[in-house]
Amino acid sequence: MKIAVLKERSPGETRVAATPETVKKFIALGTQVAVESGAGEHASISDDAFGDAGATTGDLASTVKDADIVLGIQAPDVELLNGAKPGAWVAALFNPFQNGDLVEAYAKAGLEALSMEFMPRITRAQSMDVLSSQSNLAGYKAVLTAADTYGRAFPMMMTAAGTVQAAKCFIMGVGVAGLQAIATARRLGAQVSATDVRSATKEQIESLGAKAIFVTDVEGIEGEGAGGYATEMSDEYKAAQAKLVSEHIAKQDIVITTALIPGRAAPVLITDEQIATMKPGSVIYDLAVAQGGNVEGSKPDDMVERHGVKIMGYANTPAHLAADTSALFARNHFNFLSAFWDKEAGKPELDEEIGDAIRLTKGGEVVSERLKGA
Ligand code: NAI
Repeated sequence: MKIAVLKERSPGETRVAATPETVKKFIALGTQVAVESGAGEHASISDDAFGDAGATTGDLASTVKDADIVLGIQAPDVELLNGAKPGAWVAALFNPFQNGDLVEAYAKAGLEALSMEFMPRITRAQSMDVLSSQSNLAGYKAVLTAADTYGRAFPMMMTAAGTVQAAKCFIMGVGVAGLQAIATARRLGAQVSATDVRSATKEQIESLGAKAIFVTDVEGIEGEGAGGYATEMSDEYKAAQAKLVSEHIAKQDIVITTALIPGRAAPVLITDEQIATMKPGSVIYDLAVAQGGNVEGSKPDDMVERHGVKIMGYANTPAHLAADTSALFARNHFNFLSAFWDKEAGKPELDEEIGDAIRLTKGGEVVSERLKGA
């Protein structure tokens, strides 16, 4: 059983899908691990460190040759996988709803595409959930980046020369990234408030010491929502939310938006008109910028200034913390494959619940029901 780890080739991608720690663990399962030279460069992992852990390192062709499983962050183009075993598994992010051509190409090549972002949100899959592990650090980084851009301090400071007021920080969307953003902004000393469409988040916001700002006159999503996710809201809800945000946002210094709806463009939560009511020097960090953005006018990897407000967002925030996000992603991969390891067969055997959820292609066909139903 050979596991191959490729160098990431997507622009701006700095992460790597394995670490020396996970290489050792895979080898302990009886596998051979091949890592493409330079794969860990941007995550501060040298070829030597992979070598010391027991991996072979080499060029693309020798890495992929006869691989049974290929691990990636972003799914590699099919041409890079020439030489892998027929029917080899490729576990990575496929962004399946936007990448139909790539999924088709995997089917045509007879590869088995395993989409890590389709991991079901069930208790036993929590340790395999890359969306969760990466969002957590993204929420943290968004606050730090916004704080660095903001021309003022976060905490209240009482000095001999006078008092510096605490920054007011508003988090929109309280999933994994939003919860971490609240905690990070609180640790930095900001006054934090937050909102979501799922009622279950209200208690979570308050337990982190932040103020919950919720639409009360129109019903949102009771509890967690299917699979923990939000859906598109009614026009009536959207109007009530826009009014609430308009009233609140004018008093905020920092806004972090994280709202996503699986398989759809991110909802627009802040309009240009609302930005115009904010104080000059305020900062908005749009974590959903790569999915279309929660903020009107936001651009990936660019800072746009509107009405004196700086609007920013990295297209790939987790890539800005590559050493930590790689370590977590790599563990997600290991937790996933090792949970299904069949010791006698010396390879993993996926069960139906998780296998059917994440498998996009098999035997030359697109097999994902979720994708076919989209
Ligand atoms: P997400 O990344 O899909 O969305 C971020 C947040 O934006 C969500 O809280 C969502 O409700 C919110 N949102 C969507 N539309 C909005 C709107 N119009 N206005 C305001 N907020 C809006 O969500 P994420 O971070 O992936 O987590 C969602 C839930 O799933 C969480 O409750 C989390 O605890 C749960 N979860 C469960 C896991 C498991 O059991 N294995 C693993 C990861 C998360």
